[in-house]
Amino acid sequence: MREGLEFAREQLIGKHSVIGAEIGVYRADNAIEMIKEWPELKELHLVDSYVSGIIQYRQAALKIYALREDPQYKRRVYWHVMTHHLAAQRFPNGLFHFAYIDDDHQFFAVLDALYTWIPKIRTDGVLCGHDRWQGGVNRAIKSFNELYGDVILNGGEDNRDWWFVVTDEIKDITADAIRGTTLYGLHR
Ligand SMILES: C[S@@+](CC[C@H](N)C(=O)[O-])C[C@H]1O[C@@H](n2cnc3c(N)ncnc32)[C@H](O)[C@@H]1O
Repeated sequence: MREGLEFAREQLIGKHSVIGAEIGVYRADNAIEMIKEWPELKELHLVDSYVSGIIQYRQAALKIYALREDPQYKRRVYWHVMTHHLAAQRFPNGLFHFAYIDDDHQFFAVLDALYTWIPKIRTDGVLCGHDRWQGGVNRAIKSFNELYGDVILNGGEDNRDWWFVVTDEIKDITADAIRGTTLYGLHR
């Protein structure tokens, strides 16, 4: 599994019914790996609006429907084909143990995803994501770290993944930013 997800698994050790989300699913390759390699992952919500295209949608559909035929995975995988902003409205705050962000890698989109999904993660759960090396992702993480004090950790050697533990403090300061009482990201 990817490094951010390995970090989440370590952080969640001892939990037997992990609820997670992947934002940006594409052909569902990472999703399939996650559900097959993480037995404690009991509920995986897959969110993608398929701006990537109909071919990727069809490829994902074949794999996700095949999983749903398999009694081992049948009730563990849910597919939300819509923008992640709309999908987020389907879930109560604090539901998820982790979310893996891998959708739009532009600066403001990444910031947006951070602010959208932090409230959905339970205290001491994990927010993680992919493509740390990409310009927009990198800048969004830098901005967030500058505001909140280096909360987001860099990826491993290849700098692919990023991750952090969603503490009560982070939840509070992002809630303030969403309300408009503190800064939302940085404009750089
Ligand atoms: C990099 S791919 C995901 C790859 C996948 N996580 C993997 O590792 O195999 C990005 C996906 O994000 C989706 N996407 C982009 N913007 C989105 C948005 N606002 N809401 C939901 N999905 C989005 C695209 O349709 C695309 O399929």
